[in-house]
Amino acid sequence: MDDTAKLFIGGSRNPDDSLNKAEYLELKFGNRHGLVTGATGTGKTVSLQILAEGFSKAGVPVFAADIKGDLSGIAMKGEPKDFLLKRAEAIGLADYEFEQFPVIFWDLFGEKGHRVRTTIAEMGPLLLSRLMDASEPQEGVINIAFKIADEAGMPLLDLKDFTALLNYMAENANALSSQFGLISKTSVASIQRALLVLEQQGAEHFFGEPALKISDIMRTANNGYGQISVLAADKLMMNPRLYATFLLWLLSELFEELPEVGDPDKPKLVFFFDEAHLLFDDAPKVLIERVEQVVRLIRSKGVGVYFVTQNPLDVPESVLAQLGNRVQHALRAYTPREQKAVKTAADTFRPNPAFDCAEAITNLGTGEALVSTLEGKGAPSIVERTLVRPPASRIGAITDQERQAIIDKSPVLGVYDEDLDRESAFEMLAARAKQAADAAAAKEKKDDAEASAGSGWTLPGFGTDDDNRGAAKPRRSGYQRETVVEAAMKSVARTVATQVGRALVRGILGSLKR
Ligand SMILES: Nc1ncnc2c1ncn2[C@@H]1O[C@H](COP(=O)(O)OP(=O)(O)OP(=O)(O)O)[C@@H](O)[C@H]1O
Ligand SMILES: [Mg+2]
Repeated sequence: MDDTAKLFIGGSRNPDDSLNKAEYLELKFGNRHGLVTGATGTGKTVSLQILAEGFSKAGVPVFAADIKGDLSGIAMKGEPKDFLLKRAEAIGLADYEFEQFPVIFWDLFGEKGHRVRTTIAEMGPLLLSRLMDASEPQEGVINIAFKIADEAGMPLLDLKDFTALLNYMAENANALSSQFGLISKTSVASIQRALLVLEQQGAEHFFGEPALKISDIMRTANNGYGQISVLAADKLMMNPRLYATFLLWLLSELFEELPEVGDPDKPKLVFFFDEAHLLFDDAPKVLIERVEQVVRLIRSKGVGVYFVTQNPLDVPESVLAQLGNRVQHALRAYTPREQKAVKTAADTFRPNPAFDCAEAITNLGTGEALVSTLEGKGAPSIVERTLVRPPASRIGAITDQERQAIIDKSPVLGVYDEDLDRESAFEMLAARAKQAADAAAAKEKKDDAEASAGSGWTLPGFGTDDDNRGAAKPRRSGYQRETVVEAAMKSVARTVATQVGRALVRGILGSLKR
């Protein structure tokens, strides 16, 4: 096999400890997903690092969350330390060289990397509900909110927009309910409280514009290496739900945006999902099913998803079954649950007659793993006990200065660093309220003068009516058609919607399809 078509993972050992053979991950199966598991300190992050290095070197862009900051070392050239050289020798890695990899640092909070944002509209009702841990009635209201905004072409960009829309919904609950379904004021109020909490937790940084463009995490550097996007996630991890929702959103964006490519020679992007258990921890069944579906389907878009977690039991069976490339580090087996995890992990491998899988898992050394990858026509290889290769880049965190220097010469420098606040729901609703008030005042005057019929407030027709919007006429339901001013507002809204430039169709995880 052509050496450039595979990624070197390490050297496997015979039961007598002698070197057996080189273990690879074939790039053409890189989109068949993977799993890196193991107890703390067993070598998961370094395994992620060498996989990311290998993909980058093959020209494949990588996205990875950096939970503890220790993945950042991938941006710096490694140093020929003794234990690294020894390991290289032990596994027969003759041409061990040190190098740095092209990294773009990202950070939702904009402190340790470029800002990454999305809009409320792009996140969609399903993930937003998950983010807020919404109850069923609350989720119903959130769905209605999106429906109202989508139909009116009212951009929901940030939390402020969403709050404004909720206020509007609460004020006009009765009238809107007849059009869109029940809007309970209690649910609206509880969503508003949840939004406040989110805001305090820093989610406000995450919602807004400029929103992350997928193309910016799919770059290659001048030397042909895939850019490695490293998301600073240490602070983010203090809000695990935000962390998990963000990564899910990204996954769903990739899924909705990328074209079908079938099975490419190498992946278009590899996505590492560290602390993957957070994705599934008390997630509603419907969400787990959708994630399972996205993971299954994203493969044909050329995206490989690699879950990194301590325990294989953290990943639902239906997802686990799709993860073709496996690196299993040591697990402890003291408690029954741990023993079960060891057994599960062992049972998922194609057994090797030379050793007992379950026993090996409890005996693996640091940076040693049971490895099985897809080979031939896509069947899993026989599991091998493998000493993972030493990385070419630095192990461990970089300094703040080193990080800043990389940020300062990043290919996306200046693109995301400033907030952009264009006209959206907040401004539109404020303008609408003012115009309604003005119109009401004008009308009152007119009514006084003419003593004409028609009373009550005016409900803006949200994109459903397109006939002549002249004078106010009474409606079946008792409320009035929109006023001229509101019609004008609506056309403004439509223009803005066109500027957004996409049909409001939502995908599997509820994010916008383009
Ligand atoms: N392939 C390897 N080559 C050389 N050293 C390694 C390798 N894998 C692990 N090590 C050594 O083991 C240490 C711990 O590994 P690592 O940080 O990857 O563990 P971890 O499983 O990610 O731990 P945690 O769960 O705490 O994040 C590394 O700092 C490094 O010194
Ligand atoms: Mg780690």
